[in-house]
Amino acid sequence: MGIDLTGIIRNKDFEGKVVSAEEAASWIEDGMNLGMSGFTLFGEPKEFPLALSARGEKEDFKVNLYTGASLGPTADQSMAEAGIINLRVPYQGNAVMRGKINAGEMKYIDQHLSHTAEEVRKGNLGKIDYAIIEAAAITEDGLIIPTGSVGNSPIFVQEADHVIIELNTTAPKEYEGLHDIYVLDEQGERREVPLYDVGGRIGEIGIKVDPAKVAGIILSEQPDIPSPLFDPNEETQQIADNLLEFLDGEVAAGKLPKSLAPLQSGVGSVANAVLNGMKDSQFRDIEVYSEVLQDGIFDLIDAGVVKFASATAFSLSKKRVDSLGKDLAKYKDKVVFRPQEITNHPEMIRRLGTISFNTPIEVDIYGNVNSTHVSGSRVMNGIGGSGDFARNARITIFVTASLAKGGDISTIVPFVSHVDHTEHDVDVIVTEQGFADVRGLAPVERARKIIANCAHPSYKDQLTKYLDDAIETVGGHTPHMLDKAFDMHTNLKENGTMHLDQKVSK
Ligand code: COA
Repeated sequence: MGIDLTGIIRNKDFEGKVVSAEEAASWIEDGMNLGMSGFTLFGEPKEFPLALSARGEKEDFKVNLYTGASLGPTADQSMAEAGIINLRVPYQGNAVMRGKINAGEMKYIDQHLSHTAEEVRKGNLGKIDYAIIEAAAITEDGLIIPTGSVGNSPIFVQEADHVIIELNTTAPKEYEGLHDIYVLDEQGERREVPLYDVGGRIGEIGIKVDPAKVAGIILSEQPDIPSPLFDPNEETQQIADNLLEFLDGEVAAGKLPKSLAPLQSGVGSVANAVLNGMKDSQFRDIEVYSEVLQDGIFDLIDAGVVKFASATAFSLSKKRVDSLGKDLAKYKDKVVFRPQEITNHPEMIRRLGTISFNTPIEVDIYGNVNSTHVSGSRVMNGIGGSGDFARNARITIFVTASLAKGGDISTIVPFVSHVDHTEHDVDVIVTEQGFADVRGLAPVERARKIIANCAHPSYKDQLTKYLDDAIETVGGHTPHMLDKAFDMHTNLKENGTMHLDQKVSK
């Protein structure tokens, strides 16, 4: 390629290893387990999966693909289209891949994001044959400097037989120093994670690798993949306002200071609107202990609202992708990226006491949450880190619009059609209608509050009737009419709407 690599490959043990993506792809055999870097479209290799997919168009083989989280069009989508994935773990968010999974053409294990590294360590996902890691540089000490995500890369590199490094020669050099790579010991032999505050550093700036394991280095000039920009609309703004009202109340009650507690937010439109709304709030000097940093984080740092952010990956729009080098230089002392088993570690989440808000598909009247499946059977994306945080946070919040699909779906239902987070883990539900703080409430009290404060007015009566009838005809601690609990879902399937007295002609 004629590129001067002296500043990028700075250890002589790695010299002479450059190969083409096609050559590296030719090493992969049917049935192999690949551990690939990448999380919410950031930090993933691009040339390697494209070459592997191209090979898959001509040859018959399948691999098992393990990552940090979702990959983009050059990896998840191209590999799904080529039909070369047997099993995908632990999270995906690609429409083509989702279609293959729901058609039964690909297997998928939807896993808590903090669990994958432990599963790899214990050998439950088989041996990692190849780790394929996007890198910004290789240091004098032989450390691999990751790009815009860490994810599960350290454990993949540690456990793999062979490592392929995809060196992105266009990656901002400011990535170096952003990461804090700490790898846990075996279970039973480990002490506590020695991280006691959000901004602490406990590891190395890159991933340790035995140079002898590095089978090849691919050179890439492919830019980071942007995510859609989520501008707040009236509805997401209202949800954000309601959540901020809840937090204001916590401060007024003396339960939280104005710096709140370390925040974790899911990704997407609602999460971004909430972060946006914080710019005009009373909150200051907030710390973020999350998985993913979206666009809004840079503005919040500028506004003095956020003072430090810890995460495992970026998820940025085109505008921020384009200015990333400049932004990294400016915000480097305010941001750190860690492996996902540290960002999502129950010990850390419980120790720091995060305030966590994530987005569900549906919530039931008692507070159980479905984050992953539409109408019980079809997976959407996956649980991601929402379970890691929901189970262990100081305050667990789920935020959603009360309606989906133009009003034919109520996101508040009598009984969730799939359970990801149980009522025991859920503290607050927020919709554009208001918020229901269900802490300290018994099941029927919770149900009354969730229906009253969060359900859309067009569904309130039928939800209240369900609850009243269940109390009257069945009773018990958590009254449910098992023959009617899914009437709204059944009506949606048969008549195109969850309104029980209506039919929609489709
Ligand atoms: N029934 C059927 N479809 C529903 C639905 C419901 N109750 N609620 C939402 N949807 C659909 C929307 O209509 C939309 O469909 P479309 O893409 O065809 O328009 C899609 O789900 C996404 O919904 P949207 O309102 O745009 O919200 P979002 O972008 O915030 O995504 C989740 C919502 C649940 C899919 C997403 O937050 C997710 O995958 N969560 C689980 C993982 C998680 O919490 N991660 C955060 C920590 S890692």
